[in-house]
Order: sequence, then C-alpha cells, then structure tokens
Amino acid sequence: MDFSLTEEHLMIREAARDFARTELLPGVIERDENQVFPDELVKKMGELGFMGIMVDPKYGGSGMDTISYVLIMEELSKIDASASVIVSVNNSLVCYGIEKYGTEEQKQKYLTKLATGEYVGAFCLSEPEAGSDATSQKTTAIDKGDHYVINGTKNWITNGGRSDVYLVIAQTDREKGHRGINAFIVEKGTPGFDIGPKEDKLGIRGSDTHTLQFNDVKVPKENRIGEDGFGFKFAMKTLSGGRIGIAAQALGIASGAYELALEYSKVRKAFGTEICNHQAVAFKLADMYTEIEAARHLVMKAAWEKDQGLNHDMSSAMAKLYASKVAMEQTVEAVQIHGGNGFVKEYHVERLMRDAKITQIYEGTSEIQKIVISRGVIKG
Ligand code: CAA
Repeated sequence: MDFSLTEEHLMIREAARDFARTELLPGVIERDENQVFPDELVKKMGELGFMGIMVDPKYGGSGMDTISYVLIMEELSKIDASASVIVSVNNSLVCYGIEKYGTEEQKQKYLTKLATGEYVGAFCLSEPEAGSDATSQKTTAIDKGDHYVINGTKNWITNGGRSDVYLVIAQTDREKGHRGINAFIVEKGTPGFDIGPKEDKLGIRGSDTHTLQFNDVKVPKENRIGEDGFGFKFAMKTLSGGRIGIAAQALGIASGAYELALEYSKVRKAFGTEICNHQAVAFKLADMYTEIEAARHLVMKAAWEKDQGLNHDMSSAMAKLYASKVAMEQTVEAVQIHGGNGFVKEYHVERLMRDAKITQIYEGTSEIQKIVISRGVIKG
C-alpha cells in the first residue's frame, strides 16, 4: 500500500494552491457578499485545465486522474467553494456524463468546449417535488419522432444562469417508472427554455443557483444521452463520481478552516501566551487534524477506486457523508478558535462555515448517502 503522491500530483496541487491564493483569494469576501463569480475567473480556470481535468486530451481535456481532481478541488475549496462547485459540476457531472455515455457527435460538439472552459455546464435533476426522491420526475420529455418536447421545472441548479449546456433529466414514459426516464443535452437559448431569478443563499453565494423553466422546449433526438430509458441510471452513475468532487470540496472547506485556525492560534495571545499553548485550543487542533485526515483517506480511496475502474458507489457515498460532516463540525470549531474574530467576515472562517452546509445537501443529502451505504452493506 502506497499513500504517497506522485511528482505530477504534487505539481498539480501546487498549481491549484497558487491559483487559489493569487487569483481566488483577492475579492472572495466581496464575491460572497455580492453573489457574483466573474466569467473571467472561469476562463482562467479553463486555461489551467481545471474545467476538464479528467477529460481525454483528444477532446481538449487535461487527461488527469481522479486523484488530481480531488487535489485541485481541495485547494480551490480552501479559499473559495463557489469556484470549486463550478469546477465540480462541470467536471464530474457534465464532462464525465458526456464523455462516458455520449455519442462521438455530442463529444465533438459539446465536450470539446466544456473541457476547455469555453462552455460551462449544468446538471438538471432536482425538481420542486423530486429532490432526494429522484425517480419522481415531473418534467416530461415527449417523443415526437425526430425530436422530444420538454415541459417542467428544475430547481436549485448550480451554474443555472451561466451555463451554455444543460443536462436535463425528464420522464418520457411514466408507466415505465424510472426506466422511462431520459437525459438530454439542452442548449442555452433554446426557445421555451427560461432561467428564473438567482437564489439568495446561506453559502457558496458566488455560485449561481437558479430555477429553470421548460415550456414546449424542442430538443433534437440526437441530443438524448444513451438508449431510450437510460436517463435515471445515467444520473445515478454520474452522481457516483460527482459525490467524490463534493467530498473533496468538503475536505477543502474543512482543511482551509483548519489552516486558518492553526495560524491564528499561533499569533493570538490570551492569558500571557499564544492560545495554541492552552490545552483547550491544542486539543481542538488535534481533533480537527485527525478528523480531516480521516476524511482525506475516504476521499482518496473513492478517487482511487474510480481510477481503477472499480464500482465506487459506496466509497463515494461514504466519502461525501463523512467529509461533509467533518466540514460542518470543523468549520464551527475554527470559528470558535477565532473567538469574536471568527464571527466577522474579514477572517474568512465564518464564510467557510456557511459554505460547509451545502456539502451535506447537494448531490444527495447525508440521509441519501446513508441509503446508498446501508443498501450496499446489506446486499454485501
Ligand atoms: N448506478 C447504476 N444504477 C443505479 C444506481 C447506480 N449508482 N443507483 C440506482 N440505480 C438503479 C437501480 O438499480 C434501479 O434500476 P433497476 O430497477 O433496473 O435495478 C434504479 O436505478 C432505481 O433505483 P432504486 O430502486 O434504488 O431507486 P430509489 O427510488 O430507491 O432511489 C436513490 C435511489 C439512491 C435514493 C436516488 O433517488 C438518489 O440518489 N437520490 C438523490 C438524488 C441526488 O443526488 N440529487 C442531487 C441533485 S444533482 C446536484 O445536486 C448537482 C448540483 O447542482 C450540485
């Protein structure tokens, strides 16, 4: 068993760390406050290869492995989880979904642009009444011969306002239940496809989250992904990899908060000494570091399994469940170590604490991860 990273992994991590510190840190508080994330920064992430990390270079991607993806996600998330969710959805839901299950035409037309950051993608599964219960899709996609007509509403869509390409999951044949669901590539600007107002959120406020409306939206048949009725399995298989991305995001939020707390504890003095010399704080740091390392091992194991071509449904669910819990708990501790300063924006930890919460909700809540894990455990 070898826990060490390769030279290439170390270089990639350094590049992501450098980008996060020099490009993402300036203005992160203002972006959070104003709920914006400039296109210019997305372009820069594209230039560095962060928008198509695992995509084959023949489609414009960086051709890296999932371990590299985790390392990049962790470094970006330490500073700005709004940036890292743009990267995560684009990479592990949209690019992966098209590369793994799309046709050659779909790859040439969409993947080549998504992998370079020229296009941004969104993944549209959730609905007002189909969040966790994802088979209960109300959005319909009626087969009209050479095209489908989509009607319905999608909720809480990450990159909802800024995307060029939307992967939309919809019900074609209700009688067939989840086997009657399809996935489609819908382009921005298709008549009848409207983007609702941006959600005003607790965390990842720079990331744009929207409701989407589909009113008689015509989508050519060649934009369906996979065989008729493959849509639900497409969503589940894609989300298994997506959950590694969110687990890595949670890991980054936790480790970012921990690093700030450690640094602060070495300079802040109370009762005549730096607060790290008080056991009350030192033991918190010990617990934080241990919990974060445990989360890191789960996240890396899931990434390694995916790279080996192994089934990673359970490992990605465990990584997301645990890393998101660690992110929530340890960001609270980081605020506590900062005391009053932790409660003000300037010190960054309050933002990380707010950002942590979503990692327990999107791409499957913690309760959904427990369904996946418990079913796997019982099935054996
Ligand atoms: N791979 C392949 N197939 C899978 C699968 C997987 N990982 N998981 C389930 N399936 C298949 C099952 O085998 C079954 O097919 P068959 O009947 O042919 O065997 C079918 O899918 C239905 O599965 P279940 O009977 O298990 O379905 P269920 O109704 O009990 O629900 C669930 C399963 C795991 C709870 C699922 O509904 C789920 O994951 N819900 C959460 C959805 C989610 O993660 N939403 C996140 C939205 S995306 C997002 O947040 C992106 C963003 O913008 C950040």
